[in-house]
Amino acid sequence: MHSPSSASPVFCALDTTDVSQATGLAQRLAGSIGGIKLGLEFFCANGPSGIEAVAESGLPLFLDLKFHDIPNTVAGAMRSALRLRPFMTTLHACGGTEMMRAACDEAAEAQARQGGSRTLVLAVTVLTSMDQAGLDGTGVTASVADQVRRLAALAQDAGCDGVICSPREAADLRAHCGPDFKLVVPGIRPSWAAANDQKRIMTPAEAMAAGADYLVIGRPITEASDPAVAARRIAEELAEG
Ligand code: C5P
Repeated sequence: MHSPSSASPVFCALDTTDVSQATGLAQRLAGSIGGIKLGLEFFCANGPSGIEAVAESGLPLFLDLKFHDIPNTVAGAMRSALRLRPFMTTLHACGGTEMMRAACDEAAEAQARQGGSRTLVLAVTVLTSMDQAGLDGTGVTASVADQVRRLAALAQDAGCDGVICSPREAADLRAHCGPDFKLVVPGIRPSWAAANDQKRIMTPAEAMAAGADYLVIGRPITEASDPAVAARRIAEELAEG
């Protein structure tokens, strides 16, 4: 497994189904980002072999498959996913304590079996695509902020290493969950990049100041006229603070 260089907290989201496009981008970006994120879209199109092809870039892998099923099934899925030696992976906190524990146990067992660092298990709390009305519709009566806090605490108690959260939630979760709980934050836009469909955005430096450990950045890099230049510019801005 590859761990990110301490120099860059940026994981670039390669949201494509095209293996050669993802591989090409990963190769061009190596050196200016901390790692790559591949998610369900890429995985469903290309499977583990597609992931392995892109991971050959040597960049740490954030395998974002957002598991949510009964504990036994999630444990089995994790066991298979961990063969890809991701640096971090995801599940839904609303799957509950037992499901999250089963996944974390698998990460520990994989480390014992395969050696290297233990894959970080991160929980998704409330999807940022979900607003209060959407949450109400599922029968959850808590406010979005309270539900995020509750699920983050549940994930922490279950042994998860951290959560995925919006930049707006980062400071609050940092205060509630302590300094060691990892906060992985998408919804990042450098001041010079288009917001696209992201609404509640922060710049990379703002998100780090709010308590983020890792930043997930996609289109500001992948859709730039020169992705490597955009990635370097972000790295420089972060270095300046
Ligand atoms: O292109 P952009 O920087 O918006 O990409 C952000 C990445 O983070 C995408 O892969 C997106 O699916 C993911 N993501 C997000 N918001 C969340 C969770 C994940 O934007 N709440």
